[in-house]
Amino acid sequence: MSTRPHAPAPSTPGPGKLPLPELFEMKRRGDKIVMITAYDAPAARLADEAGVELVLVGDSAAMVMLGYESTVPVTLDEMIFLTRAVTRVARQPLVIGDMPFGSYEVSDEQAVSNAIRLLKEGGADVVKLEGAGRMTSRVRAIAESNIGVMAHIGLTPQSATRLGGFKAQGRTAETALKLYDEALALQEAGAFAIVLEAVPAAIAASVSAALDIPTIGIGAGGGTDGQVLVWHDMLGMYEGTTPRFVKQYAEVARTIGNAVAQYAADVRSGAFPEERHTYGIPEEELAQFEAALAERGARTRV
Ligand code: KIV
Repeated sequence: MSTRPHAPAPSTPGPGKLPLPELFEMKRRGDKIVMITAYDAPAARLADEAGVELVLVGDSAAMVMLGYESTVPVTLDEMIFLTRAVTRVARQPLVIGDMPFGSYEVSDEQAVSNAIRLLKEGGADVVKLEGAGRMTSRVRAIAESNIGVMAHIGLTPQSATRLGGFKAQGRTAETALKLYDEALALQEAGAFAIVLEAVPAAIAASVSAALDIPTIGIGAGGGTDGQVLVWHDMLGMYEGTTPRFVKQYAEVARTIGNAVAQYAADVRSGAFPEERHTYGIPEEELAQFEAALAERGARTRV
């Protein structure tokens, strides 16, 4: 482990929230950190009840919620809208607002002002952005503005085209070393944690051991300090192809599809609604109503 002190103090999360320093303590104790994505209030409530530490309103929403082909088109306004739905109900977990492509690349000033929007308008506790190199300066600028910032390296979907597709990263000694150095630089710049996506397990474990701040892995093996999965992937709700690192815990799309098909069949056959799904009216009120209709010569159903 390096001896560098932790990131600058970030913005203070709301009451009842997991305090950010607890994440460093969890890493120190060897307790795994659980992170999951959520994009709406029902998901946020369930994640909260399940006791996860971190909820990411990820820009994966572009694909799993909004029907885009990649994460690139989603706008900051769309991310704020989704983040707001999550932060309205998430009581305990820290909510991370993901900075979409185009909201931080131009300058440090752009990054800070859009991070502020995610906090003020979206209610996020902290933010996340992808990349290292030039983006390290964005991390530093946000952290120095007193906003907690999570970094994300390895496979960074916003730059998948430049990376040659959705491929694992750091699979040569040279690229693994680059990744290692990026992680150290991001920690030094003030990131409070780093997502390692699609990175060989051995490399992710070395990076995690070298850092004081926690690493959260996705497709990075069991040696990271925590794990994250995309809500729709782990619940079997996304119809597109899912990466090999996803463990699917349910088949929710199939359950929903079957339920909707059954509902449609019931409506068509008259099996729904049943007596127990309807409201009654006292006999005499109904008789009066029908007499009034008859007086008007109204058409009545048989
Ligand atoms: O947008 C997202 O869901 C993410 C996770 C995959 C880490 O960035």
